[in-house]
Amino acid sequence: MAESRESLHGEWSGRWAFILAATGSAVGLGNVWKFPYITGENGGGAFVLVYLLCIAIIGIPIMMAEVMLGRRGRRSPINTMRHLAAEEGRSPAWQLMGWGGLLAGTFILSFYSVIAGWAVAYFFRTAAGTFDGLTADGVGSIFTGLIGDPERLLAWHTLFMVMTTIVVARGVRSGLEKAVRFLMPALFVLLLVMVGYAMNAEYAGGLGQARGDSPFMAGLNFLFVADFGKISGNGVLVALGHAFFTLSLGMGAIMVYGSYLPKNVSIARTSITIAVMDTLVALLAGMAIFPIVFANGLEPGSGPGLIFNTLPIAFGRMPGGVFFGSLFFLLLTFAAWTSAISLIEPIVAWLVENRGHSRTYAATLSGGVVWLLGVGSVFSFNIWSGEEYQLFGKTFFDILDYLTANIMLPLGGLLIALFAGWRLRRATCVEELAMGAAPAFNLWYFVIRYISPVAVVLIFLKAIGVL
Ligand code: PFF
Repeated sequence: MAESRESLHGEWSGRWAFILAATGSAVGLGNVWKFPYITGENGGGAFVLVYLLCIAIIGIPIMMAEVMLGRRGRRSPINTMRHLAAEEGRSPAWQLMGWGGLLAGTFILSFYSVIAGWAVAYFFRTAAGTFDGLTADGVGSIFTGLIGDPERLLAWHTLFMVMTTIVVARGVRSGLEKAVRFLMPALFVLLLVMVGYAMNAEYAGGLGQARGDSPFMAGLNFLFVADFGKISGNGVLVALGHAFFTLSLGMGAIMVYGSYLPKNVSIARTSITIAVMDTLVALLAGMAIFPIVFANGLEPGSGPGLIFNTLPIAFGRMPGGVFFGSLFFLLLTFAAWTSAISLIEPIVAWLVENRGHSRTYAATLSGGVVWLLGVGSVFSFNIWSGEEYQLFGKTFFDILDYLTANIMLPLGGLLIALFAGWRLRRATCVEELAMGAAPAFNLWYFVIRYISPVAVVLIFLKAIGVL
């Protein structure tokens, strides 16, 4: 009976434990590192608007579906999909969604850990006062120096993977709940401090003379005034992909966390809470970063180095910058850590269930594979950055990033929506979601059957130029 099914790996202690863990998974480099730089690359306001729409009409309903499937199946994503398909009399091929998720998780974590390594390196840099009084050029050359050095990048990547493997080996519950409870609010407050700094930022040199606004207003304009001439079909796909990436959807991370969710918790309320918190963090990061970009005449579309080229300028000038700066990168490291754990958990849970390995062995094995793949991303920024190592103008890192966020996750999400909306009995959804009010359930059911899948397909078609 579904009602008495229990997860082999234990349960969260309650609603808040799950919210904290899932928020820990959602809030990470995606919000603070990736969101600002892809917003910069895709022209600002219109991109942000499309992204927010994708969160609301695709992300939240699919998050509810993914949590629901996890809690119903109570197993790692592959086994959950296999069991639910059998239970509902559907094709065993649905478990392929779980396999795709395992692959996506491996790919994402391999480069995620490299970028997290930059955050760790910047913690030590800011703590040592390296950025004190530096100009934008000085800050930029420190970043170029770091990513140009494969040995240093490899060392930080290795450290981060070891940290991740250790926590996963011990089990997701111990420690994680406590860490997220204090560190996430702290990161939030620190972002508010940075936005406060950005409000008062002034144009460097003669930059502001021709303009009537402040850098803060320029930043807000860039983020929130939509100019649809600036977004391409591919830009819309990037916005969709990022909605999945930032909410940790489409690969089984939220499904596996859902499989540890106690029965009586409301999936709808919880999913909305997580999505709202995640979105707020991203918007705050944007509001902290773009004013600094404009104040210093930097390029919004300069790519993955954006936060590392902007925030340190502010830390180098503000009172208490060494303290705030090092605390910021420390918290960013923690945020990345809690996301990394969720990226590898579906693999570890599967190895424990199907291969009978201990958690320690399973975590070490999968951590090792991910580490090795990450070496390719380390080299993408230095010895493999040349054109002879690129495919379609993309480095190894670019390819993994594009393939996972813009193709694998939306595809995984599409399959989740189709399975929940068309292959699960309606009664199963009603029972598992237990939303009480019929109109609310009907709205979700309509969106997951028609709106979310159609929107994903339309965006795919637009990006490849069919529409
Ligand atoms: N949501 C995380 C972030 O925004 O940094 C990244 C991530 C975690 C993506 C887990 C996918 C995932 F399954």
